[in-house]
Amino acid sequence: MDPGDQQLIDAALQAQKNAYAPYSKFSVGAALRTANGEVFSGVNVENASYGLTICAERSAAVAAVSAGARQIEVVAIVSKGGASPCGACRQFLAEFGGGMRVLLVDSDQPNAVRETTLDVLLPDQFSFKPTE
Ligand code: THU
Repeated sequence: MDPGDQQLIDAALQAQKNAYAPYSKFSVGAALRTANGEVFSGVNVENASYGLTICAERSAAVAAVSAGARQIEVVAIVSKGGASPCGACRQFLAEFGGGMRVLLVDSDQPNAVRETTLDVLLPDQFSFKPTE
């Protein structure tokens, strides 16, 4: 863990309380730090049309990018059991920092943090450089 990671974990734990998960009852909170040190959080937002649900990680990334950020350094994800991000979120996050650190936190034991990286979670990431 780096200095500042605890602040991120606290932000994710706080965000988790705002998760909108009436269908799955599985609340997820995410908080990330951008390259210029700003922190953004997000939660899963479910919908009666289940497939429209957005995960916490993508909510947080959308908030950061909407505020102008383009590089994410580290993301903390909080859920019961400390779940790892889904495949869609891995690809979505990779767009903004393929090597970002990922902190997985079990909301029942928030002191036991599993640290990994997006490189490990999503090896051989898809990307391309558009030509003009
Ligand atoms: N969920 C996330 O927020 N992040 C993930 O990486 C996986 C799943 C949410 C989506 C849904 O609201 C609930 O968890 C159960 O799948």
